[in-house]
Amino acid sequence: MVSVVSTGHHMTDRYAVIGNPIAQSKSPLLHAAFARQFGHDLRYDAILAAPDAFRETVLDFIAAGGRGMNVTAPFKLEAAGLADTLTERARAAGAVNTLKFGPEGILGDNTDGVGLVGDIQDRLGVSLAGRRVLVIGAGGAARGILLPLLRARPADVLVVNRTAGRARDLAGAMALWGRIQGGPLSAAGGREFDVVVHATSAGLNAGEAPAVDYRVADGGLAYDLAYGGDTPFMRQARDRGAGLVVDGLGMLVGQAAESYRVWRGVLPDVRPVLEQLRLA
Ligand code: ATR
Repeated sequence: MVSVVSTGHHMTDRYAVIGNPIAQSKSPLLHAAFARQFGHDLRYDAILAAPDAFRETVLDFIAAGGRGMNVTAPFKLEAAGLADTLTERARAAGAVNTLKFGPEGILGDNTDGVGLVGDIQDRLGVSLAGRRVLVIGAGGAARGILLPLLRARPADVLVVNRTAGRARDLAGAMALWGRIQGGPLSAAGGREFDVVVHATSAGLNAGEAPAVDYRVADGGLAYDLAYGGDTPFMRQARDRGAGLVVDGLGMLVGQAAESYRVWRGVLPDVRPVLEQLRLA
């Protein structure tokens, strides 16, 4: 009888981003760059799932040895339902962008807000503590960032939205974590803020930013969660007095880095990867 003893047979760790569409995703490029920073041996794919096949596609990936996934539109809510355990920030966001597969089952996390706050404080050097913050929009993108934002201890956060009730509901749900109010777009009229975050989907396709009459304090920051050059909101924010005006590319790299940390316990360096993206 021959006995076969495994001599530490090596398996490459597998990760993927899942969405529909998915071809445009920068996640494979980002995670390949992070893996190079640490010399990690891993494989990261982009997986297109049919709208009704999210669950089975994830389960197939786990069966094939998958260790973790990033989740993008339109599956972030479904991912929250699939997870056995949710982190507090995923629960607050009501959405999951990071899944981790382990012996305890499926962990659902959300790294978007930490990606934003890290970009603002660590990379741009703007402290949020004690600042007056305006968030424009009360949809999924806004919800995803509010807990980490409030954890940074701003003086207060005002959420304004075209549909005022949505902003009020969102502020009410987050009030446990800090000083936050919600209202119509006009609630920001004539008021001054240190940091303005644009989180609506208006202006993505050559549209215009919502007409909000905020003012930005001297040297204040305007941050568009969208990325890809000069957005309508960025132009508007300069007119309103913002000194530092940026798009969301830093947040994109930051949320990916935090996902990498959730999976592998080490936080990649965002800067060189962001520079590489800006050049591309
Ligand atoms: P997302 O995940 O991108 O946040 P969403 O949950 O559908 O998508 O939310 C879209 C956000 O953009 C909402 O705040 C929406 O305002 P309403 O709640 O009033 O719909 C906002 N939005 C979209 N188009 C807009 C427009 N043309 N003007 C102002 N706000 C707009």
